[in-house]
Amino acid sequence: MRRLGILLAAGLLLDGAALAAQNSDPLPYWANTPSHPGRARVVETDKVPRTTIGQRGMRAIPGRREPIGRRIIEVPENRTNAGPHASRPGFIAYVPKGSVAHGKTLVESGAGAFPCAACHGPNYKGNGAAPALAGRSPSGLVRQLYDFRHGARRGPAADMMKPEVANMTADMRLDIAAYLASLTP
Ligand code: HEC
Repeated sequence: MRRLGILLAAGLLLDGAALAAQNSDPLPYWANTPSHPGRARVVETDKVPRTTIGQRGMRAIPGRREPIGRRIIEVPENRTNAGPHASRPGFIAYVPKGSVAHGKTLVESGAGAFPCAACHGPNYKGNGAAPALAGRSPSGLVRQLYDFRHGARRGPAADMMKPEVANMTADMRLDIAAYLASLTP
């Protein structure tokens, strides 16, 4: 368990280079773990709200903005409605301009391996052992892709993902996640 925790922490610190390229403070590993089950609204942008690590996740600092760089910033739409008891929290995922279109190309071509739909089904709605990907939290998708690549997520089913992630860079993970998150679940 401790080992897994360290692997996850290392994974997110590394992917932090993509997710939080401009952040000078290293993020705790859970900062990129979405605490919401629902769908985040994907918005392509140059500028994002400045964020801080709040209650189990990233929170926007009102009125402060900064360049997005090569990051995904996933925050509650409404600061007051994001706690564990929120009835229906809305989340917004800011992604760099062009990432959705580039991600579509990667997902459809298979990013150097098989096209993702071959296993994840038409429109990425899931198929047998391969879970649905459409409309999922983009930071959660990045994290899973990183974990497959670095062996934190493994097993017979996860082995099917190995060729997919073998040559997947942090930039590719970001674009792929932006596209998949933008799709209707
Ligand atoms: C050869 C079949 C296959 C292909 C092709 C494939 N996947 Fe997968 N994928 C799987 C399986 C099986 C799992 C479930 C692994 C497990 O249970 O650990 C999975 C899991 C995942 C997950 C984790 C989802 C979750 O709910 O935790 C992500 C993200 C993912 N795949 C993304 C992709 C992307 C992006 C592509 C294309 C670049 C892709 N997959 C192509 C078989 C595949």
